[in-house]
Amino acid sequence: MRNNNMYSENPSIFQKFVLLTNQKQILIDKVVRKIRNNYSKRNIKFLDIGCADGAVTIPIIEELSKSNNITTTGIEYSKTLLNDFKNNTDIKVNFINKDVELLEELPLSDFVLISHVLPYINDLESFLDKVIKALPKNSIALIVVSNPLSNDTKIKNQMLDKKTKEPLSTKIQELLNKKKILFEKEVIESTMDVSGLHNMSEDGKTLIEFFNHKKIDKIPYNDIQNMRKLILSYANQEGHLIKKEDYFWISI
Ligand SMILES: C[S@@+](CC[C@H](N)C(=O)[O-])C[C@H]1O[C@@H](n2cnc3c(N)ncnc32)[C@H](O)[C@@H]1O
Repeated sequence: MRNNNMYSENPSIFQKFVLLTNQKQILIDKVVRKIRNNYSKRNIKFLDIGCADGAVTIPIIEELSKSNNITTTGIEYSKTLLNDFKNNTDIKVNFINKDVELLEELPLSDFVLISHVLPYINDLESFLDKVIKALPKNSIALIVVSNPLSNDTKIKNQMLDKKTKEPLSTKIQELLNKKKILFEKEVIESTMDVSGLHNMSEDGKTLIEFFNHKKIDKIPYNDIQNMRKLILSYANQEGHLIKKEDYFWISI
């Protein structure tokens, strides 16, 4: 059965949420640095799986294009987000508007970015097999997932009642070990501004929808109040939540 994916029902939630955190800028800088430090060749094939509206892809490609010829492919099953991507840039991208799990194979790539997409993948093992097949010698893939001990993960688990589930990060680690795929894991800290929850501004509503995976008008008033209290209990004095992500760097 297909995962309940809030991005297909509420694509703008992603764009609104991105503005409340510095995690995307950190990711952009890290990917650019990694590619610059590892590739001396001029032509680079870049694949972004679950590229959304290009908020991460576009700055990476614009920066790298200053020194390299980049062939970019973006896979995304939300038509709305892909249209936004097209409107956000002039860079040439090969768009694949499909469910990545339904693709027979992925384009051969020097760098594959898979950031916050795995929670929506049903068959992790065959997805990973497909990714590995798309990586020729000397290529890199980066998988980004929430760290199981991160404050935002704890909040989501409490809200969505996911406590008993094995963390995705652990599952990925086990699968990569089982397949004898070499990787390095890095834990990256970033911040999320949750101060909008104090007066329930538009940002506050975005946070409730983001954490609850539901539109705000579908959430009972009392639940919203409890969620506000829960999220704010994790915030520091500046109204920021410190969060952590696990970066799995796979080198072939
Ligand atoms: C949380 S967003 C992450 C966007 C971006 N990668 C980032 O890190 O900022 C997940 C994106 O993956 C897309 N997505 C999820 N499952 C997918 C699938 N099976 N096939 C294609 N796109 C998918 C969603 O529509 C959404 O745009």
